[in-house]
Amino acid sequence: MQKYIFAVIVGIYLVVAIPFLLDTRPVAAAQSQQSSAVFDSQGNMKLPDPHVFRRWVFVGAPLTPNALNDGKANFPEYHHVYIEQKNVDAYLKTGAFPEGTVIVKELTRVLNPTFPDGSRTEPSGRGYFNGQYNGIDLTVKDSKRFAKTNGWGFFTFGHHPLPYAESAAEAPSTECAFCHQAYVAKTDMTWVQFYPLLRDKDPK
Ligand code: HEC
Repeated sequence: MQKYIFAVIVGIYLVVAIPFLLDTRPVAAAQSQQSSAVFDSQGNMKLPDPHVFRRWVFVGAPLTPNALNDGKANFPEYHHVYIEQKNVDAYLKTGAFPEGTVIVKELTRVLNPTFPDGSRTEPSGRGYFNGQYNGIDLTVKDSKRFAKTNGWGFFTFGHHPLPYAESAAEAPSTECAFCHQAYVAKTDMTWVQFYPLLRDKDPK
């Protein structure tokens, strides 16, 4: 009887343990913790692969058209903002982004305007529609590397149609970080007030 119980226990152990022993998930999980920020030996950042980041979570698209800015908006395009899902999840849980988080802001122009204010008419109404890609700004969280700018590095890969620059040096704090620091230091240097998913904590 004891032998029989022992055999059953060993059997159960094997059935439960073998999938874990063969499982490769722990390795995958460790890899997914890595940052998608890649730097060269001079500290320049490599352009993240657009085929990859355009599939991250799309959190919002502010638009500051020329027509509302005396014809000369700094960024007259849509500002498409992408963040990796694991970092969105972490923000929703903790109110801060993990080390290594990359936030991409890709610009798209407004589609072939037919009115002087940049708008056009489509079956849905008169308004603005997405045109071609037109540039990339991004931020990377690394509290050690970018300690001087509140833990975030700022990079720009060009403000023009494709192709973008392959790599970029960190932008001076007087060009980028100062403004984020002045207004959004409390929300981890990010304008979450414009991204409903983050601002409203993933409402149903
Ligand atoms: C004068 C203030 C100001 C300056 C300077 C500035 N930004 Fe921003 N940035 C904003 C505002 C406001 C938003 C959100 C609204 C929008 O996109 O229009 C934003 C959004 C972003 C985002 C999207 C993520 C987020 O934080 O919400 C990135 C990435 C970004 N900026 C990078 C940069 C980089 C890189 C530079 C320098 C080349 C820069 N910014 C300079 C004000 C600024």
